[in-house]
Amino acid sequence: MELKTHPEVTVVADAAALAEIAARRLISRVTHGNRAAICLTGGSSPQGLYRLLAEEPWRSKVPWDRVHWFMGDDRFVPESDPLSNMGAARRAFLDRADAPHQNIHPIATGAADPDKAARLYEDQLKRFYGAGRLDPARPLFDLVLMGLGSDGHTASLFPHSSALSEQQHWVVGIAKAGMEPYVPRVTLTFPALASTREMLFLVDGADKRTILSRVLSGEELPAHRARSDGELVWLIDRAAAPEKTA
Ligand code: 6PG
Repeated sequence: MELKTHPEVTVVADAAALAEIAARRLISRVTHGNRAAICLTGGSSPQGLYRLLAEEPWRSKVPWDRVHWFMGDDRFVPESDPLSNMGAARRAFLDRADAPHQNIHPIATGAADPDKAARLYEDQLKRFYGAGRLDPARPLFDLVLMGLGSDGHTASLFPHSSALSEQQHWVVGIAKAGMEPYVPRVTLTFPALASTREMLFLVDGADKRTILSRVLSGEELPAHRARSDGELVWLIDRAAAPEKTA
């Protein structure tokens, strides 16, 4: 597969349409093969999608026994903390839909420190993948969900961070977050996130319009540096859409 650097941008009416189209895309990525791997994201933008997945008609379209759920980044807090991305995903849909416990793969935020948690998660991903090197012809994930922060960050890859150029590790610890909430993070790196059949950015709301237009016009912000071995899709609602795309 060729590494995708140019995104396909789809503008939809509003946050509800965004959640529905994202749900449709997710279902189409998990309904074939022996197992599927989804890399979730934190933040508010995927929450509508998450809620839909636990409700009909979507819930019964997900082959829950065969789908594995990972997290692209998390805040270094316990899952019970409201800041936890995995905690939020569990509450929004994984628990409500009774996703099998063994198919949920949280980052170990109870580890001694973020670097240790990163090493543990990288080992876990490598075991799941069955190899220590990523082969572009055999992506790690079927779908990677991504969000866009108001400073242009994605996952926990913040502007000016040395993690942006990490090429060896699949997962790294981030001692200092670039924006709120200022808690340490653990994040997948660009090479690991790129190992997917589809990378899907979800962006909604008028407060994202300025940063989105900077990213889509090619400014060297972290979200612009995201690559995919498969499709690279930005799903945005009309409120967030820069004038040229709206
Ligand atoms: C995190 C997220 C982060 C998020 C963006 C957008 O842990 O904070 O994974 O990358 O996707 O900050 O967040 P919103 O959707 O809330 O704007």
